[in-house]
Amino acid sequence: MIRKFVRLIVLFIILSSSLLRADEGMWIPILIKKFNIEIMQEKGFKLSAEDIYSVNQASMKDAVMIFGGGCTADLISDQGLIITNHHCGYRPIQSHSTVDHDYLTNGFWAMSQEEELINPGLTVTFLKWMKDVTGEVLKGIEDGMSEEEMSDIKQENIDGIKKEAIEETHFTAQVKPFYYGNQYFLFVNETYKDIRLVGAPPSAIGKFGGDTDNWMWPRHTGDFSLFRIYAGKDNEPAEYSPDNVPFKPKKFFPISLKGTKPGDFTMVLGYPGSTYEYVPSFHLQMLTRDIYPELIDVRTKKLEIMQNAMEKSTELRIQYSAKAAGVSNSWKRWKGEIRGLDKLDAVIKKQEYEKRFMEWTGASSERNRKYGKLLERYEEVYDEIAPVRLGQSYLREVFFYNGVENISLASGFTKLVSMVGNDASPEEIDEVLESLRKRAASFFKDYDPATGDALAVAMLSMFDENVPEEYYPEEFRKIMEKYNRNYQTWIKKVRKKSLFMDEETLLSFLNSFKTSGVKKIKKDPIYMLVQSAGETYGKIHSEYGKLNQDLESLHRVYMKAQMEFEPDKLFYPDANFSLRVSYGEVLGYDPRDAVFYKHYTTLEGVIEKDNPEIYDYDVPDKLKELYLKKDYGRYSQDGKIPICFLATNHTTGGNSGSPVIDAEGNLIGLNFDRAWEGVMSDLMFNAGQCRNISLDIRYALFIIDKFAGAGYLLDEMTLVE
Ligand code: ARG
Ligand code: ASP
Repeated sequence: MIRKFVRLIVLFIILSSSLLRADEGMWIPILIKKFNIEIMQEKGFKLSAEDIYSVNQASMKDAVMIFGGGCTADLISDQGLIITNHHCGYRPIQSHSTVDHDYLTNGFWAMSQEEELINPGLTVTFLKWMKDVTGEVLKGIEDGMSEEEMSDIKQENIDGIKKEAIEETHFTAQVKPFYYGNQYFLFVNETYKDIRLVGAPPSAIGKFGGDTDNWMWPRHTGDFSLFRIYAGKDNEPAEYSPDNVPFKPKKFFPISLKGTKPGDFTMVLGYPGSTYEYVPSFHLQMLTRDIYPELIDVRTKKLEIMQNAMEKSTELRIQYSAKAAGVSNSWKRWKGEIRGLDKLDAVIKKQEYEKRFMEWTGASSERNRKYGKLLERYEEVYDEIAPVRLGQSYLREVFFYNGVENISLASGFTKLVSMVGNDASPEEIDEVLESLRKRAASFFKDYDPATGDALAVAMLSMFDENVPEEYYPEEFRKIMEKYNRNYQTWIKKVRKKSLFMDEETLLSFLNSFKTSGVKKIKKDPIYMLVQSAGETYGKIHSEYGKLNQDLESLHRVYMKAQMEFEPDKLFYPDANFSLRVSYGEVLGYDPRDAVFYKHYTTLEGVIEKDNPEIYDYDVPDKLKELYLKKDYGRYSQDGKIPICFLATNHTTGGNSGSPVIDAEGNLIGLNFDRAWEGVMSDLMFNAGQCRNISLDIRYALFIIDKFAGAGYLLDEMTLVE
């Protein structure tokens, strides 16, 4: 009897601790108070919901922002200093890099504010406030309306809501659907436009381990870079001007030097891009069976060609490193997702869930009427959409994303052609010519003809082999026929004939441009291919769009149905690139049989991986010296420099650069990745295997202070010991 009781107690403890550990979810800031704060406090969080989001007082949301197009960044001083990942700052860092000033390889450190570098086009965006506007958006929607009718009404309502929200301000507004349109939130944002580069470690630190270690643990990447927000004298957003001054924020994060241990509370605040947690089994089947394997093959080929080139010279390495990193990133994640879903039996789990769902549906005639046909209909739409999605993705891979490279250059000339056709004024044309010259310069800076040709030939050949003819652009078909599928011959010919293959030819054309030159553009083989590929892409895209709309409306109904099916479950909405809060704890994991992964890595691991022969593992001498001298300052833990740590926060793409906050609200890390065994978390979360990887903030401080000698930056931070 007693034994039974003890067993029960043990079972209860295991169950309740695993419940506490189920840290799945990306929560809505204004609903934390209602749904999450108690659990968070139970897990150790010492602050209140208002400390995270408030409109009346400075709160953490005022220190977190969208960085560029798809990352998160965090304020760490009262002078507009922000920290994000090295891979988020990669493009700006790369754009300032040349063979003579190779900031990618050597790092860059402004030793005073005057030395900070300007980045045209780079912005950061803050959330000012948000609001549930579901009622307003759905006003006028009635049962029995068609999807089109509903969508028109919603759009009109949304336009009105946005307009009213930002009247007479310089803010921007967005209304985003949540739970697939079962709920809507308004976001009012403010964008700053003068963002300067302050510091970046060498790639041998910021990208240490490169694509080999990407998505993996144990990890030793010092993935951070520093920027500064500048504002007009009134502290409001302004275009770049030498008169701008460092932005004075309402709130910035104090930085903790205290370190982490397993079980410590962690919170990640940031902009997760997209997840698909509530879609049916067909969706997973489509991705893992029809889409990912094909795209993996295309990218394997691209990477082979780029890596081959990058090993040849420093110049080639600079030219292709950002492209290869981009291509490699999803390529590797797709492989991980397939593996992770497979190990989880995710499709079977979803099918079992669907079976239970159908039984529940079938048990009531009302539900049967509303939801009885859902899954059947899903199956039909997925059957239809899968090949279209593949065609669309393939077209993009080959023609518009590091495939036939010169296409992206030529596509910029469409505007010139149409302006001449529309009798634009000479001044307007000059302006476009100038921007095309700039575009050409930046394109050719990162372009190698031999590599470009190899990519073009390989991509067109794969397109020919693997894509059904109905998705062929007309021009591609002509090339295929005329050159009898020999794309090598084609590219040789094009190299002689086209304007877009070398810089000199193109610049001399632009410099002596007369409107009659438009004829030459229109007859250019690369230009013709772009136009045609663009047209085909447009067609497929709209076909895809229609089918996707069908899916979206099914998702909307299915989501609602799932919430009725499990009324006691707290559903978090799928990620949609709006500010979210995820909470968890510092924790290692068992990746496979007999192996346990500790929750943190140290500088010893960097030294273990050191290999001057391999670019990704070539540890800088200066770092080795610091290691040998144990010159660690205040940044060590147990005599070692911490590098990265693992936690259970639910994150996804877009969360890169997100602050990792401790129980007291201090910054302890910078989120930048997830561990390989758990990357399927975008589709199905597994509490035992899903871990986010963060940079230990002390490593960033150590690098800034001891490695770069830019310790002056620490003076503007608030360090908590
Ligand atoms: N996997 C991380 C994320 O998805 C880091 C990517 C950048 N690093 C790289 N080696 N490509 O963004
Ligand atoms: N590395 C990703 C990012 O850039 C984060 C992730 O997918 O976990 O946002």
